[in-house]
Amino acid sequence: MKVKNICCIGAGYVGGPTMAVIAQKNPEIKVTIVDINEERINAWNDSDLSKLPIYEPGLAEIIKDTRGKNLFFSTEIDEAIDRSEMIFISVNTPTKTYGKGKGQAADLKYIELCARNIAKVATTDKIVVEKSTLPVRTAEAVKSILDNTGNGINFHILSNPEFLAEGTAIEDLLNPDRVLIGGESEEAIDSLAMVYNSWVPEDQILRTNIWSSELSKLTANAFLAQRVSSINAISELCEHTEANVDEVARAIGMDSRIGPKFLKASVGFGGSCFQKDILSLVYIARNYNLNEVADYWEQVIIMNDHQKRRFSDNLIKTLYNTVSGKKIALLGWAFKKDTNDTRESAAIYVADHLLNEQAQISVYDPKVPKQKVYADLNYLNTRSEKENETNVAVENSPYDAIDGAHAIAIMTEWDEFRNYDWEEIYNKMKKPAFVFDGRNILDKNKINKIGFKYYSIGQ
Ligand code: NAD
Ligand code: UDX
Repeated sequence: MKVKNICCIGAGYVGGPTMAVIAQKNPEIKVTIVDINEERINAWNDSDLSKLPIYEPGLAEIIKDTRGKNLFFSTEIDEAIDRSEMIFISVNTPTKTYGKGKGQAADLKYIELCARNIAKVATTDKIVVEKSTLPVRTAEAVKSILDNTGNGINFHILSNPEFLAEGTAIEDLLNPDRVLIGGESEEAIDSLAMVYNSWVPEDQILRTNIWSSELSKLTANAFLAQRVSSINAISELCEHTEANVDEVARAIGMDSRIGPKFLKASVGFGGSCFQKDILSLVYIARNYNLNEVADYWEQVIIMNDHQKRRFSDNLIKTLYNTVSGKKIALLGWAFKKDTNDTRESAAIYVADHLLNEQAQISVYDPKVPKQKVYADLNYLNTRSEKENETNVAVENSPYDAIDGAHAIAIMTEWDEFRNYDWEEIYNKMKKPAFVFDGRNILDKNKINKIGFKYYSIGQ
């Protein structure tokens, strides 16, 4: 069946960019993205494209091209569901913060609400596509809700996990390594494959059973995060042995069996996916009593927490064991470059640790607004909102952030950080002027020559 109307529930980092690309590549399909968050929908509809709720290189251009033609953002959820033959569920699936599985299991309440909503309003047969990342066997629950609370119509469930990375979402969507579709109904799978076929070659569209598809998403993220934790583990060993982690990464990455990607040592991985999805995997394994499997993957998170902690501990130790009353400038707040997303960013935890030691924090990030920095810190509940406000300054210019600072900590690998006038920065700082490069992006020789005391990861 050729689909004419698509509805996507969830106008977030996945729903927005993914549907924008689907709409651009399928001008004959009407794509409606719906969300309960009215403010977010209004931002997607803002005529000023700089106000879109998500920053991704290339996204604004596609929105400009498609919005109002065959791409629509709306809060009229029921109407969009009923009109569409295919409904993507792209809502958030965060780690549970309450009850059984608190701190580990994926919270599926939003998924269930979507399934119930679809069942309630649908009057014609629907293909329901799981776009959110879900624990393996979630489709069973979704199907049961749809079949038991629906209006006696047919629902086909497909799993179509999204592999885009933030900061490169549009590029990843336009040139995916593969598109994965899991399901039982060949016809439903073909309908979804046809949507992607508009730009993705058939041999890159992988068809599997639904459980393999659900589990592949968690597995992919676990493997990627595991590589970062592996190289970060080696970075600590490098610091004790005069080996250089970037050289080690290069040397092992040239082994075609290992490959060069995802071997960049850092202050620790962040983002909304890696930690959440590994925790979910660990929880699932424990549920099946597979304790060795659970322990194995849990170690990836333990290593990552260690890496974040180690970074701030090193900073404090180097600053003569106290940062109390000292100004520390954090360059970057986003969890990686080219995004305004700060979820689970290492910067949050490093700042929190330094604030516990009574540091004065100043922050500069090219894309993260001031309120977001405070919201991230307040969410931790470590201290009062007032204290965060008093001890953290968020600046619009990097030169204001570093003015009078004892140390700079580079938290995000934004390209612009490399090109700053580091001589001027040096002159504006307290001496000795320390730089802690959590991303190994600066030229060590150049920075040392200016007079900085430079510390990087694994060197
Ligand atoms: P997000 O929080 O940015 O967006 C989710 C949106 O869903 C929110 O705007 C929220 O208001 C909306 N929503 C929640 N419940 C709703 C309901 N009942 N009805 C209507 N709207 C509802 O999340 P995201 O980053 O886009 O992630 C979505 C899913 O995709 C998650 O499962 C995530 O694991 C997965 N994923 C994310 C990424 C990524 O890079 N962010 C990549 C791959 C997969
Ligand atoms: C990840 C997956 O890459 C993507 O396929 C999935 O769909 C969602 O989760 P994302 O979290 O957006 O994407 O970004 P990613 O590029 O994977 O980076 C995650 C974190 O790891 C970032 O904090 C990044 O800085 C860090 N990282 C990544 C490293 O520290 N070193 C590396 O070599 C790679």
